[in-house]
Amino acid sequence: MNTAEALPTRKQEVNRAGTPPGPKGSLIMGVMREFNRDTLGFVTRCRDYGDVVHTRFLWVHAYFLYNPSDIESLLTTNAKSYRKAESLRSPFFHRLVGNGLVTSEGDFWRRQRRLAQPAFHRQRISSYGDVMVQYAQRAIASWKDGERRDLARDMTRLTLEIVVKTLFNSDVSNDADHIGEILSGLVKPFASQATLKWIADNRLPTPGHRRYFRAVSEIDRIVFRIIAERRASGYDEGDLLSMLLQAQDDDGTRMSDAQLRDEVMTLFLAGHETTALALSWSWYLLATHPQAEQKFHAELEEVLGGRAPNVSDLPKLKYTEMITKEAMRLYPPAYAVGREAIEETEIGGYRVPKGTQLFAFQWVTHRDPRYFDEPDAFKPERWSNGDPSPKYAYFPFGGGPRQCIGNYFAMMEIVLLLATIGQRFRFKLDPEHRVEVLPVLSLRPKTGIKVIIEPRI
Ligand code: HEM
Repeated sequence: MNTAEALPTRKQEVNRAGTPPGPKGSLIMGVMREFNRDTLGFVTRCRDYGDVVHTRFLWVHAYFLYNPSDIESLLTTNAKSYRKAESLRSPFFHRLVGNGLVTSEGDFWRRQRRLAQPAFHRQRISSYGDVMVQYAQRAIASWKDGERRDLARDMTRLTLEIVVKTLFNSDVSNDADHIGEILSGLVKPFASQATLKWIADNRLPTPGHRRYFRAVSEIDRIVFRIIAERRASGYDEGDLLSMLLQAQDDDGTRMSDAQLRDEVMTLFLAGHETTALALSWSWYLLATHPQAEQKFHAELEEVLGGRAPNVSDLPKLKYTEMITKEAMRLYPPAYAVGREAIEETEIGGYRVPKGTQLFAFQWVTHRDPRYFDEPDAFKPERWSNGDPSPKYAYFPFGGGPRQCIGNYFAMMEIVLLLATIGQRFRFKLDPEHRVEVLPVLSLRPKTGIKVIIEPRI
């Protein structure tokens, strides 16, 4: 599918004296204004400067990476030279996820990852399949022919319920809408994270700032309640929370409620919105590509014949999986990954000074015509020949040691939910609604995915 032979030849020697080419922007702001005005367009246009592009946001120097081998170097082969990007260390984000898996570093991160990893093994994840299907069935039980719904909202609620039930064996159905609303309000400040106002807000007790911290405290109360219930019951549920609780007892140093809270909050956040977005964009693409939708329905009929799916069907739901991969190619829920150089190093032939922020954009690389034919077209069939080459032309889950711990969980959930819901309903886009992308922390539909429901059986 991909045209490795069409790759441009690259400068291999280290250009130690030079800075990569790139847009200069204004004297003080650098490229802040252009970036904020049209983030996705700006980072796409920057590719015209080359595979490694230098930019500046105020005093912060950044490299944008467009070549899969440099992305591999950043995430995998030279991962030791980097830590997470500065934007993840903002007080805002820290208040939300603290020192959880996404944000922690070094030995502390390694220990937490080791503890959490068993909960994400394929075998254990498989046991969650029935919950995923049951919760999807419950969610759609009241949907009616002709009804207008916002699928982005529905999918967010559903994936939140599932992550809490499967990882913390707790049911939050009563709290789910409330948590969903709080979480979606919480990421709003990140929408303008590159603005001067945001930098100032970070240090000032503005009303927005205070609202944000109040909202986090509200979610804290729910999370601490889940932890307290588990501590009180003392029962080993065999889920992530039990594992984290037991591990503390083993090495004698009890993990505080605060640390448990950070991990729980991290998985709340990392484990549901991204998956909900992959589902929402999949429904959007199916609603706008009738041929693919027909093939999808044909597969559901052939493999399931009207019964509910389960994990043993996954290897047979091949076209559904291809839809998922293609949807995450065109609309990657995590549309960028960022790192900061912790030492002077080298990438793509350029010197990287310590402190440089480096970014790779799934949004751009997944649509790069050097690696994908007709890159803007929705063609699930392109996945029938396996994964793309080079490897890091497609990296919806990142890569290397910090690769998404929930990737199997997410793939399984998306395919099972598409199959469960797709058996009962199809969706027509609401003609009065325009779907637009909004790159915040993740790639969201700005005002949802509004559809009109049509039953299939
Ligand atoms: C379609 C769904 C998902 C997408 C696209 C996605 C994407 C990503 C990406 C790109 C990263 C790496 C970030 C970086 O390198 O800076 C990541 C990390 C992570 N993801 Fe996911 N994710 C998804 C679902 C999930 C789920 C379901 C969970 C948990 C239930 C999860 C938990 C995590 C955690 C804990 C990390 C941090 C891992 C570490 O640094 O050790 N994600 N995810």
